[in-house]
Amino acid sequence: MSSLLETKIVARQHALREQGLLRQRKVLSVDHDLNTNASTSSPRFVFEGRAYINFSSNDYLGLSRVPELAEALHLGAQTYGVGSGASPLVTGYSDAHLALERELCALTGHEAALLFCSGFSANTALMKTLFDQHDIVVADKLVHASIIDGLHDSGAQLKRFLHNSLESAERLLARHHASALITESVFSMDGDCAPIAQLSALCRQHHAWLVVDDAHGFAVLDGYRNAEAAKLIDVQVVTFGKALGCQGAAVLGSQALIDFLVSNAREYIYSTALSPANAALALAAAQYCTAHPELQQKLRENITLFKRLCREANVPLLGSDTAIQPLIIGDARQTLQVAEELRAAGIWVGAIRPPTVPVGSARLRITLTAAHAAEDIATCVAQLAQVLSRVGVPLVTERQATDDHR
Ligand SMILES: Cc1ncc(COP(=O)(O)O)c(C=O)c1O
Repeated sequence: MSSLLETKIVARQHALREQGLLRQRKVLSVDHDLNTNASTSSPRFVFEGRAYINFSSNDYLGLSRVPELAEALHLGAQTYGVGSGASPLVTGYSDAHLALERELCALTGHEAALLFCSGFSANTALMKTLFDQHDIVVADKLVHASIIDGLHDSGAQLKRFLHNSLESAERLLARHHASALITESVFSMDGDCAPIAQLSALCRQHHAWLVVDDAHGFAVLDGYRNAEAAKLIDVQVVTFGKALGCQGAAVLGSQALIDFLVSNAREYIYSTALSPANAALALAAAQYCTAHPELQQKLRENITLFKRLCREANVPLLGSDTAIQPLIIGDARQTLQVAEELRAAGIWVGAIRPPTVPVGSARLRITLTAAHAAEDIATCVAQLAQVLSRVGVPLVTERQATDDHR
């Protein structure tokens, strides 16, 4: 007879499979042909013997393949060893970590920083430690799972405002005497940006802190960044696994906040520190970004090209101006089908389904990087248009006609 847990697991997996929501890993390998001229061609990988152009990575500036950064990692490992060997408060905190924290402060204008091994743990640690059952916290409807999990564990009362709606945010702030408002700079699944300056003004008015998860904005967005961030944002979470192309994260804020987290954040205190080699790498990546503004420019050009080609081909995008370009299909199975047909053409895009996004809003999440070649972007759009019409997903003109009939 099978155990209770086995029965539960089998039943849940079966239900997910039935709904087209089962998640499975794919084993990817390096495209060795590409490695000969890695820095000049679109990101690619090999899956089951076939090469694909990668339109689903968050390596927005293509830094994960920059030879100088591989050298920085190597040098970091030679200097400090390959691991940190302990948690930060034991012997896991080195001058490599301090140098990265200082660079991040210089880039954002915050007083102090604290490093974590991932953005997920930075967010959960921050939420769990900063808030408790006496706090009411206001958050955008679409904030990341790590924020929700951390808030849940904190015991704080969570009030959600309508996505990017200043009216809805203000209503909640005014009604609840909230301690903080939480949002993302660039929303990970929609690619749109929060109105940071206006939210900051609202927070000041209502004596609440503004906390921003900057995972998808850091090192890519202009505007409030570059030493301006701290004037608008009380607490900023940046991650190194997206535009910096490596791994890890930091919470940035006042010295008092960081000292408080050092003494109380369980994820920080009871976990092996980010390796010094990874800290040295993230520092080198941040400096590389600053020294190569042409990468941000190339990314912007690629986004503009992709959007123009989609408009010309009537491919119905969500309207984002960032590297994250969603195309809502709605039905989870149909979304998978479109992604699979694109794969048959050598194009790899993310198929995002509930619970990552709300039910009925399954989507393709196409991400552009500075490393994509123009001809590969053109191939991607041409294939998208063909596959969408073959599978029966309405293109823009047909969609408008349907809307007009309502
Ligand atoms: C908005 C947002 N915050 C945080 C994270 C977590 O960051 P990390 O991948 O470094 O754990 C992600 C990752 O997908 C994200 O999209």
